[in-house]
Amino acid sequence: MKKYHVLFERGEHRWTVLYMDPKKPADILDSNEYLISHRDDHILLDPGGFAVFPAVLSTLVQVVDPMKINRVFASHQDPDIASSLSLWQEINPQIKCYISWLWKSFVPHFGGTEETYISIDDKGMVIDLGGYKLDVIPAHHCHSAGNFHLFDRQAKIYFSGDIGAALLPDDQRHLFVQNFEAHIPHIEYFHRRWLGSNDHKNAWCARVAELDIQLLCPQHGSIYKGEQVKQFISWLRGLNVGSASNRSVSL
Ligand SMILES: [Fe+2]
Ligand SMILES: [Fe+2]
Repeated sequence: MKKYHVLFERGEHRWTVLYMDPKKPADILDSNEYLISHRDDHILLDPGGFAVFPAVLSTLVQVVDPMKINRVFASHQDPDIASSLSLWQEINPQIKCYISWLWKSFVPHFGGTEETYISIDDKGMVIDLGGYKLDVIPAHHCHSAGNFHLFDRQAKIYFSGDIGAALLPDDQRHLFVQNFEAHIPHIEYFHRRWLGSNDHKNAWCARVAELDIQLLCPQHGSIYKGEQVKQFISWLRGLNVGSASNRSVSL
């Protein structure tokens, strides 16, 4: 079972993160799952892989009736993002999955039908969650060729998928980044290797630097808070990506 923490709550609007399963198999990369709830409408961001589904579900039932999760958002096509989709569909056969148009004919290999998938155009879109607007922000090639993040302008929370992801040793797994400088060794290799293009990386940095972000929430590792968000964007802007030559973290 995972832990969970309410990141934001105002009236009927809430962000909950599921994180750190103490019984997670050592060979599986840890992941964070984020639930946004507005009134009685719920969307799960990057619901996770097949292998972590039991841990995610057993925690989620403490937060919401899982049958009420009628939408998931897949930042990209990786197995740790959405290979659990067919299991979510068993709970709610009407569930919908937002995914880049680029992956719409690939991700159904994980399950679902023609009606399951909602294509996201390259420019992004707005998701209406019970009348509340969530912005889908393009982040192509960061790291997937068809890649999106999600921004909640009122809560000032930015879900960044694999951007900001950290590969943390068990004794340094924290919900929030404790110290940005000390965090760098855990993120450097990941970003150098998984991001293939400095042009796209720099375009993403310029785009998100304009946004008022209080929490930057990656799919792996710790959440960046307040000033650390600017520190992370500034650090990433200066990083030469697409190269693993300066290897600083073992996979
Ligand atoms: Fe990925
Ligand atoms: Fe990932």
